[in-house]
Amino acid sequence: MATAQSTRTTSITVEVDDMTYTDVVEPRMLLVQYLRERLGKTGTLVGCDTTNCGACTVHLDGQSVKSCTMFAVQADGHAVTTIEGLAQGGELHPMQKAFHEKHALQCGFCTPGMIMQSIDLIKEHPDPDEHTVRDGLEGNLCRCTGYQNIVAAVQEAARTTRESAVSTTEEGAA
Ligand code: FES
Ligand code: FES
Repeated sequence: MATAQSTRTTSITVEVDDMTYTDVVEPRMLLVQYLRERLGKTGTLVGCDTTNCGACTVHLDGQSVKSCTMFAVQADGHAVTTIEGLAQGGELHPMQKAFHEKHALQCGFCTPGMIMQSIDLIKEHPDPDEHTVRDGLEGNLCRCTGYQNIVAAVQEAARTTRESAVSTTEEGAA
């Protein structure tokens, strides 16, 4: 007698780039698949199947994660930010600006993941030296640039972020 195959599904509610989505997903669906295939967030890329390249990096509750290593159901009740949610009011995020200004990309495939990881990095290390940047980006591979300009961009974004924090504090004290 043939047995009916049932596909288990689960309902999840996730905030992605400041919008709330409720969707029914299979438990095996990866977060990166959910973002790309369900929500059309194709700025988050897939560059490997070994958790190696970092092209799929997003933020989960403000911390960088590789979205190919998580199931969508694990994001239930959490906030995800992708590269597409960084710019605010038509203004690029300081890390995006720095990557642009320092020419920190060639083909651009690694760039969304690099930027997401770098934002997390400078939160922990507001004034990183070269070694700290290289260390913090070791889970993100770039096959084009040789990393030199990426390091320069991260340090530049760290500098502008420190400066804007100082000016905000000064404005608050005035
Ligand atoms: S796609 Fe390569 S680490 Fe996620
Ligand atoms: S710019 Fe091509 S992989 Fe990094």
